[in-house]
Amino acid sequence: MNLARLARLGYAALTRDPHPPPCVLGAEDALSSLRSALPAGFLLGTATASHQIEGGLDNDWTDWERGAFSGGAPHIKDRTVSGAACDSWNRIDEDITLLRQLGANAYRFSVEWSRLEPTEGAWNEEAADRYLAWALALRAAGIEPMVTLHHFTLPRWVATQGGWMNERTIDLLAAFSRRVAKKLGSAVDLWCTINEPNVLATLSYVKGIFPPGLSDQRIAVRVMARMLKAHARMTEAIRETDTTDADGDGHATRVGIAHHVRIFQPATRSPLDRLIAGFTDQFFNEAIASASFTGRIELGIPGIIDIDEAVPGLLGSYDYMGINYYGRDHVRADLRDPSLSKQYVPADRPVSDLGWDIYPEGLYQVLKRYGSLGLPVYVTENGIADKDGNVRPSFLRSHFEALVRAAREGIDVRGYFHWSLLDNFEWAEGYEPRFGLFRVDFDSSDKRRTPTPAVETFQDIARGLGLRPDAL
Ligand code: FCB
Repeated sequence: MNLARLARLGYAALTRDPHPPPCVLGAEDALSSLRSALPAGFLLGTATASHQIEGGLDNDWTDWERGAFSGGAPHIKDRTVSGAACDSWNRIDEDITLLRQLGANAYRFSVEWSRLEPTEGAWNEEAADRYLAWALALRAAGIEPMVTLHHFTLPRWVATQGGWMNERTIDLLAAFSRRVAKKLGSAVDLWCTINEPNVLATLSYVKGIFPPGLSDQRIAVRVMARMLKAHARMTEAIRETDTTDADGDGHATRVGIAHHVRIFQPATRSPLDRLIAGFTDQFFNEAIASASFTGRIELGIPGIIDIDEAVPGLLGSYDYMGINYYGRDHVRADLRDPSLSKQYVPADRPVSDLGWDIYPEGLYQVLKRYGSLGLPVYVTENGIADKDGNVRPSFLRSHFEALVRAAREGIDVRGYFHWSLLDNFEWAEGYEPRFGLFRVDFDSSDKRRTPTPAVETFQDIARGLGLRPDAL
């Protein structure tokens, strides 16, 4: 990274408090009069991803899930494999029933590339028909589909060619997107190109806990840049191909990324902690958020790699800001660590089963920050691992309150998708973490779904919005 850019980034990190001050939640009942606070047509839904719920998949995770790290620990912490998952491939009707019981009017799901194009150039029309039938069935039930085209998994044949380390994946994914947009365009208006480029790049290529299991910051940065380039090309393909306005709102497509945004809180007021928290924020949050506004990829790790490049098609490629929000990390500078810091949650904080800081104020901060850039915002994911389901009701309520507060202060928030509808395969963690509004009995042959206490909370919110949940 050249000195001038380093100085500019350093100055920005020190002088800009990356997050507006938190609001104090709970002072008033923010959930009352929801309809006046949120725009008409607000989308209230849940989010899922193909690999985590469909079952019966064969992709770049399949062998990985059975493997182990060199030290002997299994790749998947609880030694499970995704396997039959929730069997949603065969149970979408049941899932739609659950969505109706929640009172949801939207559903975010992903289409599985390895199913649709199992080998290079092959196309599984039957699978494509089924996804189309899903989208139509959702619509018929009054539920707006949001379709994600890439949610962490790659077909084996793409991975064999190097996956995200190969520039060609951009062309392949753009061609795939064109095909899906053509097939589903008559039923789908809301598109999400790529889920969490920053998380995928970090966990696959720095932490090495997602396939291909590497640990190389230079590769990770290049991969993240490649994903932004792919996003630009995918957006172009979708906009050109899907010209049907399925819901009659005047827009045939709205395209965005589901961007994982975290709060990086300096552990102390010391300039070094603030500087490193600021760099982390720039790399993880800001680079992706700003890409559509600058048309540039500006990504770097001081002293290691720097990319500063204008990318055709990137400018204006977000029609909305999609935000996945899960919580906050405290950042203490540690120059011996490859990430230059130690990130942690202080011992006195309330945490989820995965040890993630429960920090609803952060959702307000993030919405204020990214909702003031001139684009509508959707919370494309937000949820909690909560085995007994007793914390989820207050988690959901407080995070929704944070959203309402931001909306009352002028932020154009158009939707909220809770992660997740069902318990599911939580990647490197396996099946142990429970994120579902509905609990899934994975041992039962029918993958039985039963409501957790937060279903009632969700229904309350739905009613507040004028939606009508079906009886359970
Ligand atoms: C997000 C992922 C999603 C799920 C949740 C818990 O980072 O997008 O697939 O695993 O975390």
